[in-house]
Amino acid sequence: MPTIAHLSALEILDSRGRPTVRATCELAGGAIGTVSVPSGASTGRAEAVELRDGDPARYGGLGCRRAVGHVAGPIHAALAGKSFADQAALDGALVILDGTPDKSRLGANALLAVSLAFARAVAAERGVPLYRSLANDAGREPEALPRPTINLFSGGKHAGGQMPIQDVLIVPTAPTVDECLATAYAVYQAAAAGTAERYGARALVADEGGLAPPFPDAAAMLDEAVAAIDAAGFAPGRDAVLAVDVAASHFSVDGRYALDPAGGSLTGEEMVETLLGWLDRYPIASIEDGLAEDDWATWPTLRRRAEGRALILGDDLLATNPARIRRAVEIGAADALLLKPNQIGTLTEAAVARALAVAAGWRTVVSARSGETEDDWLADLAVGWGGDGLKVGSITRSERLAKWNRLLAIEAETGWPVVGWPEPR
Ligand code: PGA
Ligand code: ZN
Repeated sequence: MPTIAHLSALEILDSRGRPTVRATCELAGGAIGTVSVPSGASTGRAEAVELRDGDPARYGGLGCRRAVGHVAGPIHAALAGKSFADQAALDGALVILDGTPDKSRLGANALLAVSLAFARAVAAERGVPLYRSLANDAGREPEALPRPTINLFSGGKHAGGQMPIQDVLIVPTAPTVDECLATAYAVYQAAAAGTAERYGARALVADEGGLAPPFPDAAAMLDEAVAAIDAAGFAPGRDAVLAVDVAASHFSVDGRYALDPAGGSLTGEEMVETLLGWLDRYPIASIEDGLAEDDWATWPTLRRRAEGRALILGDDLLATNPARIRRAVEIGAADALLLKPNQIGTLTEAAVARALAVAAGWRTVVSARSGETEDDWLADLAVGWGGDGLKVGSITRSERLAKWNRLLAIEAETGWPVVGWPEPR
């Protein structure tokens, strides 16, 4: 049974230069795990609370000294010297210690960093790679790799709001990660050239490494993605399909959707018609947050009408929160979970979220945040937990590449194939 000897933490900076938390867990046997946690920008309202210092004179209030202090202070004081039968026992102790429903006392950033640092230390103690250790804890025997879903074009909160919708991603259908990334590179280069020609846009990148030209509307963004696949010598719909993160919570006001950058707004029903129109015109395998996080009434309509054509993937809607996933399963609001451990704050609660989704027959896509670090634990988690997809941004920017490169290393080590999603058309 692992015994925690020492917990410590450090305030570090994420890919946007904002503070975040890195924690280290040392076990009595000498094994050590260090983990850095990410931070979102297009956050859902139901997410657990990232504790920030709020001192406007330092990092505009975004400092994480308090969260770091909680690891070294009360969390260390309560857990050091204690043994934990498993991850669930450790995470249960963290949740009780925090005592709030939204992790606002100690901070979800502090709690997740400790939860994952413990997981990494346990993997080291077991002498196995993190993905094996996580699979073991989840009662799984991994045999496949998640399919890369790669950010091509960015908008919304990741690109200064030049476009309402947040991401257009490409999903190569090749059987190996290696080939998927090579396809993504070629498409990305074609997209950079195509947008330079049509929009005069230099290949400057947004928060997740995607290109962010001034598209007139979402259809132009999708047209350009299909054109890039084609220009790179691949067949759209066969060699690579699209995924869209609409992130609709962030342009919805009072139940209406301001989808058109030129103005005007749509009702929820009109938004559904628009999304279905995209499915008719483009090879889209999944639509994430096509509706707002509080539009529970319209989600089931979208899910029903898109059934068999594209996954209806919930990010802000579900917030990796078991209670919200249960509600969504009950009313048929979605059929896929975007899994972001820092939305809920401990590994065990994220595992419960995943298990609920899998039990409902849903797909899962494991996702990074827009504010990331050089840490690569997410790739291990996606493999260990059998994610159908992995979403970590583009194939540029090293905080993104840390995860893709880790996935390449796991592929080289295991030789496992990429999962069979999406089904060939
Ligand atoms: P975020 O964006 O990390 O800024 O929340 C990622 C997403 O919406 O999927
Ligand atoms: Zn999202």
